[in-house]
Amino acid sequence: EDLDLGGFPHYMAKEIQEQPESVERIIRGRLDDRFGVARLDGLNLTPRELRGFSRVKILGCGSAYYVGQIGATMIEELARIPADAEAASEFRYRNPIIEADTLYIAVSQSGETIDTAFAVEEIKRKGGRVVGLVNVVGSTIARACDGGVYLHAGPEIAVASTKALTNMAVGFALIALALGRVRDLSNADGQRIIDAIRALPGQIKSILDAEPEIAEHAKAAATAKSLFFIGRVRGFPVAREGAQKFKEISYRHAEAYQTSELKHGPLALIDDSLPTVAIVPADELAGRNLAALQQIRARGGSVLAVTHEDVDFGELDVPRIVVPRTEPELDPILLTIPLQLLAYHAALTLGYDIDKPRNLAKSVTVE
Ligand code: AGP
Repeated sequence: EDLDLGGFPHYMAKEIQEQPESVERIIRGRLDDRFGVARLDGLNLTPRELRGFSRVKILGCGSAYYVGQIGATMIEELARIPADAEAASEFRYRNPIIEADTLYIAVSQSGETIDTAFAVEEIKRKGGRVVGLVNVVGSTIARACDGGVYLHAGPEIAVASTKALTNMAVGFALIALALGRVRDLSNADGQRIIDAIRALPGQIKSILDAEPEIAEHAKAAATAKSLFFIGRVRGFPVAREGAQKFKEISYRHAEAYQTSELKHGPLALIDDSLPTVAIVPADELAGRNLAALQQIRARGGSVLAVTHEDVDFGELDVPRIVVPRTEPELDPILLTIPLQLLAYHAALTLGYDIDKPRNLAKSVTVE
């Protein structure tokens, strides 16, 4: 087992550090510079079929569902097709309407999550077309789907998923590119995204290099009984995943909210005992995000911002974790990485069983 750990104290630490290489693996051979497109032969869809879809529905559980939300936003932005993600565990119980012109995407690291497998079965029974974004080759979900994109993240042992989730997000970028380039995404825009995807492994490495600094922030976060994770639009699923990771291994209550919704209720909870982790990318919402942080600070709440270098915080003096900029559509991929380290180091500080948190299984194969 020690050998498998490769000198790391936990599988989660190892899997976080493996991300530059695992991202290289999912993109290898799939980026076509000549046409600014992603080649995803495993989808088993012709360009004409790809063009025929007028909606995308993504299904997954837990973190895979949150990454599905990241994917839906990427698909809407790059391909301009209405897309949304739904918890696979709820899907078949609401007698979903399955449409022939909807592309269904099932997302799963293990490929064995029963709720996601049942959702796939429901879609297929009703004649829908479903592709998989799955890590484990030959798994139940991979086999049940009509085609798919393997994540090639390598084996993931820690219950708290990290490298597989990052590859899911990159996988969605590839799918968005494939869907976009048979629609209105230009060759130049396709190339812009390809260049940004290629830069991701190096950028992830630079975030991982900041681990000691993130560990210090985590020590402070670990002292709180409860935390908010907030973000807007692209940043909201990032916040949801950040809260999920924190809850899973540090056993601290962490709640994700849209930053814009704070004033509609949860702001009442803010005081000096409830810290907020805020996702503040350098995008068109930065000003509004900063205004919300000001409101939190004015009520005595502490804030840790996950942000970009060029966001001007002005008078607002809050600790920051800075990630490199990519193309805005891909921001969620990099913004999520420090939140893995934040959760890991909080759990380490608290002395919990990081790789096997209580009450949880790596793969949930019973309902
Ligand atoms: C992630 O950290 C969780 N352990 C969990 O939410 C997980 O993502 C979910 O159970 C789905 O698993 P899957 O990707 O294997 O289908």
